[in-house]
Amino acid sequence: MQELLEKVIALAEEAGRMMTSENDVTIDTKGTKDNYVTSTDIKIEKFLREKLTSLIPGSLFMGEEGDIPEITDDCQYWIVDPIDGTTNYARGIPASVVSIALAEKDTVVLGVVHNPYTRETFHATIGNGAFLNGKPIHVSSRKKQNALVSLAWSTYDKKKAPLCFSVSQRLYYVCEDLRRIGTAAYEMCLLAKGSSDMLFEIRLSPWDYAAASRIVKEAGGFTSSSVGDLDLKEPCTVIVTNTETNMDFLKTIVVDEIRRYPNLGLKY
Ligand code: IPD
Ligand code: CA
Repeated sequence: MQELLEKVIALAEEAGRMMTSENDVTIDTKGTKDNYVTSTDIKIEKFLREKLTSLIPGSLFMGEEGDIPEITDDCQYWIVDPIDGTTNYARGIPASVVSIALAEKDTVVLGVVHNPYTRETFHATIGNGAFLNGKPIHVSSRKKQNALVSLAWSTYDKKKAPLCFSVSQRLYYVCEDLRRIGTAAYEMCLLAKGSSDMLFEIRLSPWDYAAASRIVKEAGGFTSSSVGDLDLKEPCTVIVTNTETNMDFLKTIVVDEIRRYPNLGLKY
């Protein structure tokens, strides 16, 4: 695993250099008017698809910009976001990361998140702790009153925004402050290193959270959807906290608000 990890870190850092050195970036949208994809997303995903699948012959590849393969119980699969924080990237805001996970069945066994702007590389393998640039990291022990909470308001489906605002309002009056950076993978890593303390998004895709979920758990943190474990095959609600007590607190609020918006058809 160590040898594989070193190769994956080197590929994530190479992809980060591609991100920051690209001069001729074209910007397009997919699905909705505010869901961007750039030529660099496509280029990095193609690069990582080729390199990662050749590290483990027979492994499958699930990336944000490509077709989703059929995942079976006996396969190993990569879950990759070539650029998490594409809107930031398209607008010249220096906050985007490369996210690479390796999964088996429903478990992420390896996660690497690289931020080329801050030169931070987070990594974790199952059972071996979490690291930032080679040094061990741990979540904070802050109580909810002192918590910094990462949030978003359902950019691509604004019907769910009122629910997110209600959760935000309830948290704002209890916790210290709220943050929205625009890259869920990096925001989860900030939680893993103890800078922030809770995170909630009503819907994220596996490539947004797979790698960072392993890093958070190895750093001593907690992850959950609104129904149970994070789903690696389907988008789901994502709740992440530093402590179990804060998980109970945040999940109770999220589930309570989901119940208040039955027309959205969300599971809890
Ligand atoms: C997005 C970012 C953002 C989150 C969105 C994601 P992308 O991923 O993680 O922080 O709020 O829900 O879709 O599109 O930049 O890869
Ligand atoms: Ca993403």
